[in-house]
Amino acid sequence: MLEVKGITAIFGGVTALSAVSFGVEQGEFLGLIGPNGAGKTTVLNAISRLSTLADGDIEFEGASLLPMRPHEIIRRGIVRTYQNMALCPTMSVLANVMLGGLWRRPSSAFAEWLGTPAARQRSTEVERDAIEAMRAVGIVDAALARVDSLAHGMRRKVELARALCAHPRLILLDEPASGLSDQEAEELVALIRRFRSSLGLTMIVIEHHMDVVMALSDRIVVLDGGRVIAEGIPSAVAANPAVLEAYLGQPA
Ligand SMILES: Nc1ncnc2c1ncn2[C@@H]1O[C@H](COP(=O)(O)OP(=O)(O)OP(=O)(O)O)[C@@H](O)[C@H]1O
Ligand SMILES: [Mg+2]
Repeated sequence: MLEVKGITAIFGGVTALSAVSFGVEQGEFLGLIGPNGAGKTTVLNAISRLSTLADGDIEFEGASLLPMRPHEIIRRGIVRTYQNMALCPTMSVLANVMLGGLWRRPSSAFAEWLGTPAARQRSTEVERDAIEAMRAVGIVDAALARVDSLAHGMRRKVELARALCAHPRLILLDEPASGLSDQEAEELVALIRRFRSSLGLTMIVIEHHMDVVMALSDRIVVLDGGRVIAEGIPSAVAANPAVLEAYLGQPA
């Protein structure tokens, strides 16, 4: 479904990614791990076209994503969440979740202002999708609460609902369990597994919480210093000496 082909990203002399290649099969859950600064977020930024590449290509269902703008990527079904969540804190949960649906079907500000039938139809549909997404992650009771009144764990769910509201086929999650308690992280794993079967999703998940990555991933790619240092099924990766060295900073 997705083919990352030798991507290199350089920011002001820092090589964040160096010839990184991996693929994701339709329906697969891929874990992306590595120490801080390994380049994980940069990979997601490259796929969602938020950062430019010095070299390489990224193909989704056979077509290169590089010439596409971020909103075109979303319309193709690639939707992501952010390490720092990027929610609108003073807006309601519902309004934040609806943004996901609006990303997918942008309309002109002029049509919105005129309140054309097409613009009204679109808001009704987006609202319906948002309610469904909030129900799926169990936050529908908080629909009218302001995001800044919510605890961290709830905000993570709002973010997930916003992504679901955009009807993803490939979902990219950047540290969805960061800041969650062990129990909340376990609930998140159960929730994501439920989507997987009901929505037929394909996923790339970045996570430092090892229990979460191990529980969710069919396969794991390990980055260190902008390079892929290991790839394989979770049990093999967990036992790989190069991976242990990257994490512990010394040979296993
Ligand atoms: N826009 C940017 N400008 C300059 N440097 C950047 C930029 N984005 C990333 N980098 C650098 O690229 C490297 C990889 O960063 P990245 O955020 O992808 O790491 P990460 O694996 O997601 O780390 P973490 O686990 O801390 O989130 C780091 O050295 C970072 O400082
Ligand atoms: Mg990151």
